[in-house]
Amino acid sequence: MPQIVIDGRSIEVASGTKVIEAAQQLGIYIPRLCYHPALGSAGACRLCAVSFLEGPVRGLLMSCMVEAKEGMVVSTQHPDALQFRKQIMEWLMMNHPHDCPVCDEGGHCVLQEMTVAGGHSMRRFPGSKRTYEDQDLGPFVQHEMNRCIHCWRCRRFYQEYSGYKDMGVMGLASRTYFGRAVPGPLESPFAGNLIDICPTGVFTDKPSRFKARRWECQRAPSLCIHCCLGCSIVVNSRYREVLRIEAGHNPEVNGHFICDRGRYGFDYVNHPSRPRWPLVEGRACSWQEALAYAGGRLREIIEKHGPSSAAVVGSSRASLESLGALRLFCEKHAVSGPFLWMETQELKCVRRLLQGQELFVSMKQVEEADTILVVGLDPVQEAPMLALALRQAWRKGGWVGVVDPRGVELPFCFSHWVVHPREMGMALEYLAGKPKSPYEGFDDQGFLKAWRQALARGKRPVMACGTLLAKADFMGACLELAHFLRKEKGCGGLFPVLRGANSLGAVAVSGSEASGLEELLEAIERGELKALVLVETDPLFSFWGKARLKEGFKGLELILVMDYLPSGVSKQASVVMPCKSLFESSCLFVNNEGRLQEATAVHHGGIPISQMLEEANPPRTFGTEIPGGGTCAGWEALAKLSEAMGESLGFSDLPGLRNVLRQRFGWLREVRPGQRILALEPEGGKRWEEIFHSQKEEGQGALSLLLVQATFGTEELSSYSRHSCKMEAGPMGFLHPETAACLGLKQGDLVRLGWEQGELEFLLETKENMHKELLVVQAHRLLDWDKAGRPPEVVNSGQLEKII
Ligand code: SF4
Ligand code: SF4
Ligand code: FES
Repeated sequence: MPQIVIDGRSIEVASGTKVIEAAQQLGIYIPRLCYHPALGSAGACRLCAVSFLEGPVRGLLMSCMVEAKEGMVVSTQHPDALQFRKQIMEWLMMNHPHDCPVCDEGGHCVLQEMTVAGGHSMRRFPGSKRTYEDQDLGPFVQHEMNRCIHCWRCRRFYQEYSGYKDMGVMGLASRTYFGRAVPGPLESPFAGNLIDICPTGVFTDKPSRFKARRWECQRAPSLCIHCCLGCSIVVNSRYREVLRIEAGHNPEVNGHFICDRGRYGFDYVNHPSRPRWPLVEGRACSWQEALAYAGGRLREIIEKHGPSSAAVVGSSRASLESLGALRLFCEKHAVSGPFLWMETQELKCVRRLLQGQELFVSMKQVEEADTILVVGLDPVQEAPMLALALRQAWRKGGWVGVVDPRGVELPFCFSHWVVHPREMGMALEYLAGKPKSPYEGFDDQGFLKAWRQALARGKRPVMACGTLLAKADFMGACLELAHFLRKEKGCGGLFPVLRGANSLGAVAVSGSEASGLEELLEAIERGELKALVLVETDPLFSFWGKARLKEGFKGLELILVMDYLPSGVSKQASVVMPCKSLFESSCLFVNNEGRLQEATAVHHGGIPISQMLEEANPPRTFGTEIPGGGTCAGWEALAKLSEAMGESLGFSDLPGLRNVLRQRFGWLREVRPGQRILALEPEGGKRWEEIFHSQKEEGQGALSLLLVQATFGTEELSSYSRHSCKMEAGPMGFLHPETAACLGLKQGDLVRLGWEQGELEFLLETKENMHKELLVVQAHRLLDWDKAGRPPEVVNSGQLEKII
């Protein structure tokens, strides 16, 4: 551990630490443009020059390129260093346009800060500036190449860090160009990070362009809830409108970056049709009226038909507070629920996984693993930032093996064992070394032997597993293999990928009798249910039972929806109560590894001024109320409803609710936001039985059907975002090319899948690296779910038909 002196202060740092990093640990900020903690050093900008006065090297050197060594004495303020850095700034600004007043980066631009801090204010060079042509890079990223200072951060992030090749560097010397070979949308689902890492205004945020300056924005740290990983974000809002999301820094979760679903999915909160006032039978009214009506009707129904005639539904996109309040509401009024799961199968999978929670690891630990098994999971489509974490492990020399029947694509080389869903459990048992495996003795050119060897070599193994394909013995086999690796290596872990942002929170507050929506649907169809309270959920979104549910709703006496989305189900509701989103109220979520995380409100809500009618802005009448700002958090609306029914839930504000939840749920008591919950205990948490899901016998030529997720188009919240929708491809289905050929189909065909209870239409893509006995269809929002009953598990060739 070398000891080094910087500006008269001494520090001991870990071997390999760069001088620029050592200075940072002392709180000394050395100017920099090309250095980035996640990308490392490039030595491209020369702005981090410092004077080395004593030690193994002397003179003026780049602090990002020199490792701290014993005995070094460094000055960041030496006249030589100051003069050199001043000169560098002048050179950089020779070609950079002096256009800060019209540049969207102005106000949060690293180059602007360095220029001002370095005292550069006059341009002495009389020649003309270098100019370039800009490119259209798609709907997310604006390109203005004249502002480039050639720091290479963009190329290093895009190609080296994230593994995509369509954007890079072209040209030579001072004519170097950073862009695409031909204009067109950036292909990487992480492209938005270019905006954050470019230290100037070359890459800026297209959707929020020219809408606000940084200093006009309200900003707050928050969470992404577009998948289960819970990446940290920073929200920027102005005049009640969320305009831009930036990556927050969370070393244990997402590091410095986020994916484009998380960056551009936020626009659901600005949706022009978002509920802003309570509605009773379609008529806008006050909260008092809506609560009196809904509370009165609910009480009447319960008195007349019994408490089980009412049910409460939530979802894993709701905050822990709303989920907890749902549970308290059900207990207080003895009504059915809360139903928090689309499918009972999913609940059982998550419960089963929780039995191995002592093995759970963070995304940071995934990055540090040397052997990673990805099982039943398509990271880019289901939890995009996991793909970046896997790539970082691979860049450090790690081995990644994927066991999945789909045509999984990752931005690095990996080994893919294409296994049919019904055989996944068996494959994992083989890898865990179980005797008498059917795979024993069967090995396609040593492929499996190489897998066994890779597992044997690994010192820090991690298994990432999904729940989407969970079948038969699969979850149990996942846990067994993870335990086997932990026992063999003395370390190693499990990284579960779940379907909702708060899936673990939902399982932890679900009662032992909890079940999925199928049971609710059956109760509705039997006529046992008369009233439904739906809180931050829309069962009509890509649910196979949509048509049946819609039909069943007709027989209900009351449908009460509390939500911030203009959801399909709110259109059928007798009462709608508008809720706050997580950007408008502080709330807690539990991410996939059991980390309790807090989102803070960025503003108080209300209709964005940009959406106010012309005659309403500026206001002609003045009041203290925010237009459209009379929304409540889900938990608050439930507490008010309960009071309207004559029973208090035992809290009246957020601290009060959190206290009640801490008393009610032991696992919440000791943990603070940011920490992992180590013993998340689902109530009545008996050892869960083996995951069922019987496999149908498949006939000759039959294909297993899998409904899967896509980066854009299948996630509920982002499907209400105008920005994300621009990157959606239509609903896609996938077949192996040989299977497609046998069926008389080919890439690009529009195909209809028909079965007894419905049909779905999608565009066909063929993939070489998927299983031949498989049909994969994205559970896309644009599929006509009205026409789809429960999709079959197995389809045959006669059920697939080419339309065009
Ligand atoms: S485009 Fe931005 S990140 Fe890329 S080299 Fe130029 S200044 Fe650096
Ligand atoms: S990986 Fe998931 S949580 Fe992270 S930014 Fe993307 S969608 Fe959001
Ligand atoms: S930050 Fe060191 S050369 Fe750019």
